[in-house]
Amino acid sequence: MSLCPPDGSPEEQHLTVRVLAMPANTNPSGDIFGGWLMSQVDIAGSILAVQIAQGRVATVAVHNFQFIRPVMVGDLVSCYAQMEARGNTSARIKVDVYSERERDPETVALVARASITYVAVDQQSRPRPLPES
Ligand SMILES: CC(C)(COP(=O)(O)OP(=O)(O)OC[C@H]1O[C@@H](n2cnc3c(N)ncnc32)[C@H](O)[C@@H]1OP(=O)(O)O)[C@@H](O)C(=O)NCCC(=O)NCCS
Repeated sequence: MSLCPPDGSPEEQHLTVRVLAMPANTNPSGDIFGGWLMSQVDIAGSILAVQIAQGRVATVAVHNFQFIRPVMVGDLVSCYAQMEARGNTSARIKVDVYSERERDPETVALVARASITYVAVDQQSRPRPLPES
């Protein structure tokens, strides 16, 4: 099992979430629920955002969420996060999601992609400047 992005893309891509799609994550039709995948993507992006912000962040916007291929029960889902843009108090993080079927690296495919903006917030949930990088 490789911890690198399948496309061998740059080291700025961080594997922040790796999780198995379980039967409990399905919709009434028995397919993996898109909302579950969106949650994993938000978690994956927030892990990098917290690192960049060196503290608490809030999700303020989700841009261009694309479901590219279906995810099936039993798939191993890997989320790679990368900073796309850095503002005064916010950072936009791109998350690429890959799935692997039956532990076969030949089946690895890009299944979803999104960009999410996180705002660094203080203890009163007010925006605060990002620390120097
Ligand atoms: C995050 C929050 C504190 C920001 O407060 P705000 O008054 O909108 O703050 P500002 O207008 O100063 O914007 C802060 C930053 O967010 C960016 N931003 C705000 N809305 C945005 C949007 N819709 N899309 C992209 N960026 C946005 C601004 O451009 C600014 O970035 P910069 O400082 O890097 O230039 C506030 O919107 C909030 O609490 N939202 C709810 C967050 C939340 O609960 N998320 C979880 C949902 S369950």
